[in-house]
Amino acid sequence: MNNQIFLKPATVQAFNIWLLSLAVTLLFFSSCSEKKEEKKFTIGFSQCVGSDLWRKTMLEEMKMEFSLRSGTNFIYRDANNSSKKQIEQVEELVDNHIDLLIISPNEASPLTDIVEKVYNKGIPVIVLDRKTSSSQYTAYVGAENYQVGKMAGQYITKLLKGTGKVVEILGLPGSSPAMERDKGFSDELSKSRGIKLAAQFYGNWVARSTILELEKNKETILQSDAVFAHNDVMAASAEDFLRRHNASKHIKVIGVDALPGSGGGLQLISEGKISASVLYPTGGKEAISIAFKVLNKEPFSKENILQSLVIDSSSVQLMKLQWAKVSSQQRDIERQQTMLSDQLRIYDNQKLVLNFIVITLVLAVIFGGLAFFSLLENRKINKSLEQKNVQILDQRNKLIDASDKIEAATEAKLNFFTNISHEFRTPLTLILSPLEDLLKSDKIQSGEKRELTMIQKNAYRLLKLINELIDYRKIEHQKFHVQSTRNNVQSFLNEIIESFRYGALKKDIALKFSFPQHDIVANFDVSILEKIVLNLLSNALKFTPAHGRIIVDLTTKDNNFIISVADNGSGMNQEELQQVWDQFYQSNTSESRGSGLGLSLTRELVHLHGGTIEVQSRKWQGSTFTVTMPYGELIDSKLSPVSAEDRVVSLTEQVKVYITEELPAEDKQFDPIGEYIKEYSVLIIEDNPDLLNYLHEKFSANYEVFTATTGNQGLHEAFEKIPDIIVSDVIIPGMSGKEIAKKIKTDLRTSHIPLILLTAQASPEQQIEGINSMADLYMTKPFHFDFLQANVRNLLTNRMLLKEHYISDISAGVEKKSTLSTLDKKFLNDFAGIVELHLGNETLNVEDIAKMIGISRIQLYRKVKALLDCSITDYILNRRLKKASYLLMNEDYSISEIAFKIGISSPTYFSTLFKGKYGMSPSEFKKKQNN
Ligand code: FRU
Repeated sequence: MNNQIFLKPATVQAFNIWLLSLAVTLLFFSSCSEKKEEKKFTIGFSQCVGSDLWRKTMLEEMKMEFSLRSGTNFIYRDANNSSKKQIEQVEELVDNHIDLLIISPNEASPLTDIVEKVYNKGIPVIVLDRKTSSSQYTAYVGAENYQVGKMAGQYITKLLKGTGKVVEILGLPGSSPAMERDKGFSDELSKSRGIKLAAQFYGNWVARSTILELEKNKETILQSDAVFAHNDVMAASAEDFLRRHNASKHIKVIGVDALPGSGGGLQLISEGKISASVLYPTGGKEAISIAFKVLNKEPFSKENILQSLVIDSSSVQLMKLQWAKVSSQQRDIERQQTMLSDQLRIYDNQKLVLNFIVITLVLAVIFGGLAFFSLLENRKINKSLEQKNVQILDQRNKLIDASDKIEAATEAKLNFFTNISHEFRTPLTLILSPLEDLLKSDKIQSGEKRELTMIQKNAYRLLKLINELIDYRKIEHQKFHVQSTRNNVQSFLNEIIESFRYGALKKDIALKFSFPQHDIVANFDVSILEKIVLNLLSNALKFTPAHGRIIVDLTTKDNNFIISVADNGSGMNQEELQQVWDQFYQSNTSESRGSGLGLSLTRELVHLHGGTIEVQSRKWQGSTFTVTMPYGELIDSKLSPVSAEDRVVSLTEQVKVYITEELPAEDKQFDPIGEYIKEYSVLIIEDNPDLLNYLHEKFSANYEVFTATTGNQGLHEAFEKIPDIIVSDVIIPGMSGKEIAKKIKTDLRTSHIPLILLTAQASPEQQIEGINSMADLYMTKPFHFDFLQANVRNLLTNRMLLKEHYISDISAGVEKKSTLSTLDKKFLNDFAGIVELHLGNETLNVEDIAKMIGISRIQLYRKVKALLDCSITDYILNRRLKKASYLLMNEDYSISEIAFKIGISSPTYFSTLFKGKYGMSPSEFKKKQNN
């Protein structure tokens, strides 16, 4: 539920962020897509010469046309009247990946090849003004130069009224306008007989060459009536020449181009310097217009011929006016274009601002939405948190209440428990004191003494446990006050060790004490340190086997004295070591048992005293407990050291409590005369030596007794001795009683042995579990020995009934007693069946049957003995005689035939055996039955 509350805003947030990025991206792309209108085409323009007015006007026109269109790159190259240079420039333009070439070739023939090459490469070519010698081009733009020449001829003829001498100044030889204008001019002049072409020379379109040629042809020119120059530049040079020779008045000059502006043809006419000029349009605007048509795949004409006309003093004003108008319009257009581009710039800026505003707006809406949504969610969360808070507070109060109650109840229980523990001490003392007296009495028999000793040991054990519990409670409730006195550590330890000497001697354990030469005097609480050392020593005594050794070592280090107690007893493995300080920890996996509260309490006491305790141990090699204690401070200086006598008295009592239970039980002195061979044997598996001794002694009266103190030992004894019954404790070092039951009952060798489990686990569940185990009987402690013995007897009697049943039964198929395990039932069935089948076989023996069943001869022998209480040969003989009696009663065979049928070849021997069992000979038996 909580997850949902917190995940929801995150999801919405992610969605909103996604929306936001989408909006921003869209805006970004929309603005970009508008800007993305990049130049689409590259147009290259190769100009033969760019320096004169006519060509400059052409370029201006082109640029004007470009300004009306967008999206094109324009590369301009000026060959400066050099055809060679122009070829190179065209190649360079092609290398620059132009999409279209506009060319005004310097000379026709030298540039034909390159133009054809470009055209054949697939690049459109527009030829402007001058031509090549070929028609391989995409389009041509220019005026009809033949017509230009012709118009000039017509004008001059008219001007001279059909008579006069004319000089012609041609353009560049090889350039198409020069050739065509000359042709048109000549053709026209030839029409009038009175007009003579007095001279012709090339001015190469420029002033410098013209002036040179004029000087060369001076005489002829000064005698002429009119000069026709192929352009206004050369015409102006001629006028200048004539003026200088005072001939300008009567010799008329006609030019070509009629350009407006300063130095242009129109100005020359209006100033009266030349008579007329043939208008020759540059075609710049048209060339660009056609270029776009070509590139945009729109229809266009290949030949685009521009109109020409002759302008003289009569039309020059009109022309100039028109030009002025066009120019002013042109300026308007330019101004508008400037304004347009300004507007575009403003528009772009405004668009940018608008985009920014839109984005900001979108963001504001999104964030506003988010904020609103979060606000709602926060309110919801806050509400639910408030509710939860209330619930938690409520629960907390309830918990506090409950915990107070529990604490009070626990306290009450613990107080009760502590009081009860204290109460136990008095009856225990009342048990122990008269016991001491009784044990000292001479009137007590040895058997009674053993039982009294056992009572005494267990009473001490109880006392020790109660003392430990009370100490533990004191520590828990911080009621243990350390009362240090100044004492000599050596003598303190020595007294304790000496009081243990008796115990060590009894177990034949060497008890050594090593200490430094100098005295170690420290401040410590005698009773606390006593408990610590007593506990460690009694543990060492408990886990060290007979003939072992215990070494107590006293050393010092820094401000501490160190006491270590090392034994070479059973030791502990890693798992046991980890749990050694746990309260009531008892190992079930090892052959030894833990010490209950003892070590845990010891550690608490060490800590209480500001010391530390460590243990080192190796399985089967022994353990070393090391206590490090500070020299300590005298907390209560008024306390005087404990007197030696006081300590000895208290120590003797204390040590009794600690070691009495660890001392070995007095061995029972069996009376050999009273011993006789017992009918049944019992195996007792019990690790508590007192209980073991007790049961041993009690059972010995009627049974042969085997004993074991560990699980493995118990199993070994069971397989070795094949006892008649087993009595085992449920908790046994190394193995549980239930495991023993399982192992015994699933092994053919022992499956027939009845098993009784003894346990202190008395809860109904535990009892049911015990019964569910494979044991025959489950008895809870404490039990009365007579009850146990009655049960043992009962189980053995059941087994006897079974034996009789099997031994007397004639048929192997008769129903068996249900107390038998399936394993045993199967065994008896197999065994009886085999014997029955081979009854007629005289040589049938134990070996054969064991082989047939699949066990060893000894095992077969023991099994049959245990289950049927007779030897195998006795059983076979019994079956033979039983069958013989049946045949005598029910069949009509002779004695020798019956003897043969039951596998006894000698009839006499059969008769003897039969008489032995039934008290009469077979014939007497038959007679008696027939009567
Ligand atoms: C300019 C020019 C013009 C002439 C044209 C012929 O370079 O000489 O004066 O009309 O070229 O190509």
